[in-house]
Amino acid sequence: MLSLADNPKRPLVSASILSADFGHMAQDAGDILTLGADLLHIDVMDGHFVPNLTMGADMVHALHQHLPQAFLDCHLMVEHPADYVQAFAKAGAHHFAFHVEVCDELNPDHAPTNCDELIAQTHDHGMTAGLVFNPPTPWEDARKVIEPRLDKLAMVLVMSVNPGRSGQAFMPEVLPKAQALRELAGPNLRIEMDGGVSPITCAQAAAHGVDVFVSASALFGAPDRKAVIEAFHQTPLG
Ligand code: DX5
Ligand code: ZN
Repeated sequence: MLSLADNPKRPLVSASILSADFGHMAQDAGDILTLGADLLHIDVMDGHFVPNLTMGADMVHALHQHLPQAFLDCHLMVEHPADYVQAFAKAGAHHFAFHVEVCDELNPDHAPTNCDELIAQTHDHGMTAGLVFNPPTPWEDARKVIEPRLDKLAMVLVMSVNPGRSGQAFMPEVLPKAQALRELAGPNLRIEMDGGVSPITCAQAAAHGVDVFVSASALFGAPDRKAVIEAFHQTPLG
């Protein structure tokens, strides 16, 4: 089983199953791993934090049953991630990432998530923890939540589209935030980028410190998925 702490570091590909065939999910997800993808990225949306509804712990459970060796990288675009930590762990999730925008420091008056408690619960349930921030969130705000907890995070995800669906255009204006995060965190933290990441945009992402590429449409929509994975893997890290 892959670990996010593996060294030496090489670029990792997290295949977002949002663009897989929902009618043949285990087959499609298994095939993408056989072709070389390193992680499966599970996009969980609750219809509140983002308007869309996607999948939850039942999907994680099914994937874990069918593909027990798959590393399940769960991205919770939900208002109340603490409600799901136990269910995701039980279902077989390996990494549990939630948004800084729902945490107490940035969301003082709307039933906020206690970030320290949720990271501790994530670890108690045997998963690695991650934080995520959206394009409109200023770096100084994201930093307020991330910096005090850096030693507890296996990965931080920088969104390069506004979350909600796959197939949107990459937003290069978020790149300086990835770079600032890399400078703050040093070489060991995994930095993931999600949204419009393709064999073309990944080079810019890597040059700004990103070393995990999430891809849905550019990967599952490609005629040659293996070539896309190879292109990601061959990207020089910055
Ligand atoms: C967006 C999700 C992404 C999405 C990426 O809200 O978090 O993981 O599936 O899709 P692409 O790679 O098509 O931009
Ligand atoms: Zn995602």
